[in-house]
Amino acid sequence: MLQGKNIILGISGGIAAYKAPLIVRLLRSAGASVKVVCTSNALEFTTKTTLETLSEYPVYADVFEKDFVHSTEHISITDWADLMIIAPATGNIIGKFAAGIADDALSTTYMAFNGPVFIAPAMNTKMWLSKAVQDNMLEMKNRQHMIIGPAEGDLACGYSGAGRMSQPEEILALINEYFSAEKLLDGKKVLISAGPTVENIDPVRFLSNYSTGKMGYAIAAECVRQGAEVILISGPVSIDAPAAVKLVSVKTALEMHQECVRYFANCDVAIMTAAVADYRPKDISDQKIKKSDAELSITFVKNPDILAELGSMKKKGQIVGGFALETENELENAKAKLHNKKADFIVMNSLRDENSAFGYDTNKISVIHASGEMKSFELMTKKEAAVAIIHETAALIK
Ligand code: C5P
Repeated sequence: MLQGKNIILGISGGIAAYKAPLIVRLLRSAGASVKVVCTSNALEFTTKTTLETLSEYPVYADVFEKDFVHSTEHISITDWADLMIIAPATGNIIGKFAAGIADDALSTTYMAFNGPVFIAPAMNTKMWLSKAVQDNMLEMKNRQHMIIGPAEGDLACGYSGAGRMSQPEEILALINEYFSAEKLLDGKKVLISAGPTVENIDPVRFLSNYSTGKMGYAIAAECVRQGAEVILISGPVSIDAPAAVKLVSVKTALEMHQECVRYFANCDVAIMTAAVADYRPKDISDQKIKKSDAELSITFVKNPDILAELGSMKKKGQIVGGFALETENELENAKAKLHNKKADFIVMNSLRDENSAFGYDTNKISVIHASGEMKSFELMTKKEAAVAIIHETAALIK
């Protein structure tokens, strides 16, 4: 699976470093070549001899090491590698990465490497939840690094909670998954809208819908896996953004519209999955609306149709897709949407299908293309649906 792949395993000084030799072993068994770079603290928890025996390469732990063929090993190793994984990544090394500090073999190698970076954090729960680490993790995500874990469970320090390094097998599976993608969207920039919008009525009340963002987030994750740079414009949801996407959080349809239009010009593909409110209250009351015995009416005005606008804006070579969530006359409505919004494809799903659409982890979709071609899929996970949708999208780019 990883035949011919060159991987740098960065190890920093946490107790989970004792599992790092197993990661070397698993990567090697899968066919990869592995070079280990570690901090001196890491070698308190595991040994150079073990790592060198398993990797069959010298371990790079000292910037001033005289034994290396290249005096600047941190540069030559980064030219060699296809991927860098740091496991375990301590709060300290993540802090150095985030701040741009390069004062040891691992942090200098990281700074020089511009390929895909996977980070498997491991530390005490209180350290993991600290503002410093969480802020630095945000920076790691902004740099499009893949974050693996940390898992929850009993920690070596006696605590129980989030902070345990993901198991080596899980780390291997994610690296395998990364390399198994055909990179259908390599070098492409994809804009995705997801989640609901929220339309304020007064300072404490709003109108929204049941969208959870799961489908859009799954599509964003698949685009990353296929090599795309992803901008995810999302309404409020309670799920985490996939690793390596640029997340732009918005609330209202007007904000979502503004951000989508802003980013679209530089994108190759736009997939609008958001459940955008079609209307917003004409006036938002400055004060909380008081209850009275009289009936209350609110006047609504139409929100911009973002998908339709992108459909009209699109230049040659740009692909625009959307969703049609229907409760009746599904095909007819979806085809009308495809046409009216000048989309290249519409993904149709129906609230009449069991376990589909809002909130579920599964979806039953049909993809209808502007050419008239239509592909229907059985009920599948949203992750699988995302794979199918991106295959359809990539075929259009070709
Ligand atoms: O017209 P309808 O809301 O059913 O169309 C759904 C599709 O249009 C979805 O792709 C949705 O993200 C997009 N849409 C939009 N802006 C709106 C309404 C819908 O982008 N104001």
